[in-house]
Amino acid sequence: MLPYGRQSISEDDIVAVVDALRSDFLTQGPLIEAFESRFAETVGAKYAVAVNSATAALHLAMRVAGIVPGDRVVTSPITFLASANAAAYVGATPDFADINPVSYTLDPVALEKSWAANTRAVVAVDYAGQACDLPEIARIARNRGAIVIGDACHGVGGAFHPYNEPDKTWKLGGNPWADITTFSFHPVKTMTTGEGGMLVTDNREWADQARILRSHGIVRDPSQFSPIEACAPLAEKGTWFYEMQELGYNYRLTDLQCALGLSQLKRLGSFIARRHEIVATYNQAFAGLNWLKTPALRNPADASTTSWHLYTVQIDFDALGKSRTDVMTQLRQAGVGSQVLYIPVYLQPWYRKTYGYAAGKCPVAEAFYTRALSLPLFPSMTEADVQRVIHAVKKLAGQLPKGAQ
Ligand SMILES: Cc1ncc(COP(=O)(O)O)c(C=O)c1O
Repeated sequence: MLPYGRQSISEDDIVAVVDALRSDFLTQGPLIEAFESRFAETVGAKYAVAVNSATAALHLAMRVAGIVPGDRVVTSPITFLASANAAAYVGATPDFADINPVSYTLDPVALEKSWAANTRAVVAVDYAGQACDLPEIARIARNRGAIVIGDACHGVGGAFHPYNEPDKTWKLGGNPWADITTFSFHPVKTMTTGEGGMLVTDNREWADQARILRSHGIVRDPSQFSPIEACAPLAEKGTWFYEMQELGYNYRLTDLQCALGLSQLKRLGSFIARRHEIVATYNQAFAGLNWLKTPALRNPADASTTSWHLYTVQIDFDALGKSRTDVMTQLRQAGVGSQVLYIPVYLQPWYRKTYGYAAGKCPVAEAFYTRALSLPLFPSMTEADVQRVIHAVKKLAGQLPKGAQ
């Protein structure tokens, strides 16, 4: 069975993790900083903070940006729950603006229209790996005193071209419009550390604070100790001394995971290139199907720089004469997994009951959802795997070439 996404683990990855297992540190050793600095360099950011999931990175982004109860945080409804949940973790109100019908990313026009006086942050999700219109989202947000948190969980290693600067390439994570960007290293993502995530920013204070919060809010640097002698014998603050200055968490990534991350980073370019090849093969194979829409780019200039994580098609199930469940079952019988990514977040029971959201809120996102299906896309797919998917999809409508079963 081909899943919609899966990790690619090489012998080098295994050796790297085994080496880490044989070292002095299983966690909080030197590989964390090594991974952070290599990652920061790769995505073009000044600072990177490794954490144990992108959910943790998004939560820390909210904390360091000072998002508090009473604030409103807007994101795309077509995302994984974590993009919105992070705002709720800090007591703010997650809200949603509609998507662009081509890219399925947050639509700046809808964002501007939905703006409220208490909107303090926008979580800009690069759905499937395609960059949002970050310059426009940042213009809207910054003019109104809000910040932009990039959720580039789908887009590790990706880059984009602003409309008004077609010759300029900016990286997801290293661009002037996202104040903080978060990445996920879950196994279905472009590179993996098992579970894991990264927060990147050019803001030194935020990076330092995120590092403190990822480990219980503990400070060990004497220059940062508070002047209030509250919790230790007075005058004795030896090397053993520490202070908890904020309420933090255990969001630490381990050395074992960073060993894997460092090893995977070496192959990030080849992962992205193989994903490109598969996307191109699918696009060509599905081009003639009038009941299926292939993924499209909002800005065609991004064709070579998009780091595709998902291959999500839109299927006209009525025209096909089959329900989505029937289609998924038929694909599964052919050994092809598929997934619905995503159900608009505000339609989830918790969001409805907590914030009173209801169907009809974001019509473009809802129309997208009723037709969405993500097909297998991961670098270790062989040509035979890719052809199996194409064959199974075409067979849904009996559109196979003569002689093929
Ligand atoms: C867009 C998006 N944001 C956030 C997350 C959360 O990532 P993690 O599983 O690393 O917490 C995911 C993971 O699925 C995601 O797809």
